Amino acid sequence: MATGYPAGGADRPLWKQPEFWTTVAAVAVLSVGHYAAPTHDPFWHDLFRRLYYLPIILAAFRYGLGGGLVTSILVSLLFLPHVLMTRAMLPRQASEAVFEIPLYLVVGVVTGILSDRQRKANESLRRAERLKTLGEMAAGMAHEVKNPLAAIRSSAQILAGHVTGKDAEFAGIVVAEVDRLNKVVNEFLDYARPAPLRREPVRLSALLDSCLKLLAPVIREKDVNVKTVYPEAEAAVSVDPAQLRQVFLNLILNAVQAIENQGSVEVSVTESGHETRVAVKDSGPGIPPDKLTRVFEPFYTTKPGGTGLGLPIAQRIVAEHGGRLEIESTPGVGTTAAVVLSVRRSA
Ligand SMILES: Nc1ncnc2c1ncn2[C@@H]1O[C@H](COP(=O)(O)OP(=O)(O)OP(=O)(O)O)[C@@H](O)[C@H]1O
Ligand SMILES: [Mg+2]
Repeated sequence: MATGYPAGGADRPLWKQPEFWTTVAAVAVLSVGHYAAPTHDPFWHDLFRRLYYLPIILAAFRYGLGGGLVTSILVSLLFLPHVLMTRAMLPRQASEAVFEIPLYLVVGVVTGILSDRQRKANESLRRAERLKTLGEMAAGMAHEVKNPLAAIRSSAQILAGHVTGKDAEFAGIVVAEVDRLNKVVNEFLDYARPAPLRREPVRLSALLDSCLKLLAPVIREKDVNVKTVYPEAEAAVSVDPAQLRQVFLNLILNAVQAIENQGSVEVSVTESGHETRVAVKDSGPGIPPDKLTRVFEPFYTTKPGGTGLGLPIAQRIVAEHGGRLEIESTPGVGTTAAVVLSVRRSA
């Protein structure tokens, strides 16, 4: 049976869960009662036959589709010999009873699917609530951290001006590390408290070019060949340029950082129907499938100085624009991160 229910010891083995034994006991008691009931009395047979729905529903509710299916099959297997046995004595009841078997299966499967769906919805709601509370608390804390950080940074800078040699190097490390902490705190604040969108007509190619210009020093550090592919007559779209800039900067930076020594990055804009697609494609090492599901998790990072907030923030901003952020990756070939916006275009 599928396990994984949240509260009350879902991690415990099956035989230590009271619901499992309740289901087993209910099926056993009902089967014994059913077989022991006087053969000529249809009342008891009808009663037991219907009571079988209770353990099926209980198992489906507790263990989802797997539980519902296994229990309904078990009940059907226990029920079938009884139908065959009573066929000679109560032919009408027996032929009616045969139809109960598909019903057991349907009830087990439908209740199981519904309970799985409900559980998933509850889990994501709980997760969203936890994240929201955590975000609010941490945003307050992050604010408190920023002031001492500013004081530490300026003191270290003053110190750096008064010392030489190794001491100056240490003071420089303090400044660099404070800058890194500041970046984490600022990105976290962005994530926890998103700013409202300020839409205006924007040509995405121009926005992308300005991002590439900003990242030119990082791009130059490696042997990365950057190519841009834009539509000939590109229409402007109504977006928040400051927030989308943050998205594109992170996607391009991720692409450049992914390339170890040498490679290519292609930045493209494609218009089709009501959608505009901005894709950043790199020839980096790619992301293994088991890691691909994690890249949108806050704080998931494989980089020494990374915060792991770049993609979650980008995803939130794109979603606020009514679009979607898609990442496709083939290990050994490369990765494509695409922002798909369905936005009104102006000439
Ligand atoms: N183009 C890419 N190629 C390979 N891996 C990638 C690519 N883009 C993202 N990733 C993986 O996804 C992880 C999360 O990316 P994200 O942008 O959220 O955070 P980060 O880049 O690690 O940190 P930060 O954005 O704060 O600098 C990265 O650490 C990396 O492992
Ligand atoms: Mg990043």
